[in-house]
Amino acid sequence: MAIEVKNASFVYPNGFKALENINIVINEGERVAIVGQNGAGKTTCVKMMNGLNKPTEGDVIVDGMNTKDKTTAFIAKSVGYVFQNPDEQIFNSTVRAEVEYVLRYFKLPEKEIKERVKRAVQLTDIAGYLDINPLDLPYPIRKFVAIAAVIASKPKYIILDEPTAGQDKHGTETLSMMISELEKDGVTVITITHDMDFAVANFDRIVAMSQKKIIADGNAKEIFWNEDIVSRARIKKTQIGELAKRLNVPGEVLFCEELVEKL
Ligand SMILES: Nc1ncnc2c1ncn2[C@@H]1O[C@H](COP(=O)(O)OP(=O)(O)OP(=O)(O)O)[C@@H](O)[C@H]1O
Ligand SMILES: [Mg+2]
Repeated sequence: MAIEVKNASFVYPNGFKALENINIVINEGERVAIVGQNGAGKTTCVKMMNGLNKPTEGDVIVDGMNTKDKTTAFIAKSVGYVFQNPDEQIFNSTVRAEVEYVLRYFKLPEKEIKERVKRAVQLTDIAGYLDINPLDLPYPIRKFVAIAAVIASKPKYIILDEPTAGQDKHGTETLSMMISELEKDGVTVITITHDMDFAVANFDRIVAMSQKKIIADGNAKEIFWNEDIVSRARIKKTQIGELAKRLNVPGEVLFCEELVEKL
C-alpha cells in the first residue's frame, strides 16, 4: 500500500504552473520529510496526495485508488492533511468540538469518539484547552489543535505541513514524541519542514524540492552532504553540520555525537 505520484503536474486556476512532472512513491510505514525553499511547491504537492489538488497532468494513486476518480472527502479518510495555516482548517468554537467534528459527522459510537479524542489530545498535549475557543489560543497551540483533529480521524497516512513553525523547544519535543507514537499506531507520517534538525532527528527519508520539482530523495547524508542540492533547495544543514563545516572538521558530520567523536 502506498501513495504514488506519477508524472504529475499542477496548474492553479489562474494559470500558474506550480508543479512540473513530480514522481514519488511513499510506502506505508515510511517517515518522509519534504524540504526546500519557500514557494518550491511543497504544499501544492502534498495537497495532491490527499486529493485537495487533483493533478492537471499525470496521476496520484492512493492505495490503488486514483484521486481523480474519488472525492477529496473520500481520499481524506486515508490521507489526513494538517494545513500549514491552522486558521484555514479550524472552524469550531471549542477545541473539543473541533477535535470531535469529523467523528460526529460520521456518527461514530460515543465510546469510540471518546477514545479517539483522548488519544489525539494526549499525543498533541492539548488536554488543558478542551473547553477553550481555539481563536483564544496562541498560534503554536492552534497548530496542535488542527493536528489533533486529523489524528482523531485515524487516517493511514498523515501529512503535517510545517508543524514546527512557531514551536518552542517543548512544542518540537511534543511533535517528536507524537510522531513516534503515530508510528507505533501504524500511521505513515509525511511532514514539510524548514527545521533541518527536526527533519534529520525524526525522518529517515528526506525529499528536497526546488522550483516546482523534486531534486533529491534520500537519507540525511545523501541530501545534506551534496552541496549542489543544499544550494539549489536553499536549505541549511543541521546546526551541528554547519558548525562542523565552519570548523573545517573533515568527514560527513550531522549529529552532535559525530562531531564530538571527530574532535
Ligand atoms: N491558489 C494559488 N493560486 C496561484 N498560485 C498559487 C496558489 N497557491 C500557491 N501558489 C503559488 O504556487 C507556488 C508554490 O506554492 P506552495 O505553497 O506549494 O509552496 P511551498 O513550497 O509550500 O512554500 P512555503 O515554504 O512558503 O510554504 C508559489 O509560487 C505560490 O505563490
Ligand atoms: Mg507551504
